[in-house]
Amino acid sequence: MSLSLIWAQARGGVIGRDGDIPWQVPEDQAGFRRLTKGHAVIMGRATWDSLPERFRPLPGRLNVVLTRDPAWRAEGATVAHSPQEALAAARAWNAEATEDAEATEGAQATDREVWVMGGGAVYATFLPMASRLVVTEVDLDVPGDTFAPAVGPQWLPEAGQSEDWLLSRTGTRYRFVHYRRAEPEPVM
Ligand SMILES: NC(=O)c1ccc[n+]([C@@H]2O[C@H](COP(=O)([O-])OP(=O)(O)OC[C@H]3O[C@@H](n4cnc5c(N)ncnc54)[C@H](OP(=O)(O)O)[C@@H]3O)[C@@H](O)[C@H]2O)c1
Repeated sequence: MSLSLIWAQARGGVIGRDGDIPWQVPEDQAGFRRLTKGHAVIMGRATWDSLPERFRPLPGRLNVVLTRDPAWRAEGATVAHSPQEALAAARAWNAEATEDAEATEGAQATDREVWVMGGGAVYATFLPMASRLVVTEVDLDVPGDTFAPAVGPQWLPEAGQSEDWLLSRTGTRYRFVHYRRAEPEPVM
């Protein structure tokens, strides 16, 4: 099982403001759906709250929600009270999904990924355990209150996976940058 972080950031690393994302890049949302569909996603409770009700749980994915509140529940959310519990839930779901796929398709199911999808502190918590970062840079100066984790020199842009600037149909410039660790994979 490998762990990847996925986020979109404006200039200066802004990822959110007032419980929302302060821009619209639908092409980025489509990329997010394509990459995460069929996998487990881990998010903080505030990110879950930020999703429009009609979109949650995110379909076709295990939605693991981190909270410290022992009473918190939501339909379609798998609750975890620590990062370890979140990873254990994702691992168990992956194992079950892989068994099902092997039983029905008679083939070796491919290794599943786990995607960490925010917000700020949750990215920082999982960064040391991740092997890949999928970042969308949005070419905007916007004020924010939530920030992406710092991507240190141990992260190298992945060859062939980083694109030139693209123009969203909303008029905003954006580009995808994928990073891999320059050092050995972390042991989870
Ligand atoms: N641009 C992007 O790609 C992107 C992606 C995701 C989110 N966002 C934005 O980011 C903002 C939300 O992020 P945020 O940083 O404010 O909140 P968040 O990380 O989504 O959620 C924080 C909450 O998660 C729970 N939590 C965090 N760490 C935990 C741990 N170690 N153990 C147990 N529970 C833990 C706590 O929930 P309780 O308070 O319930 O205990 C905490 O209050 C919004 O503006 C959202 O739109 C942007």
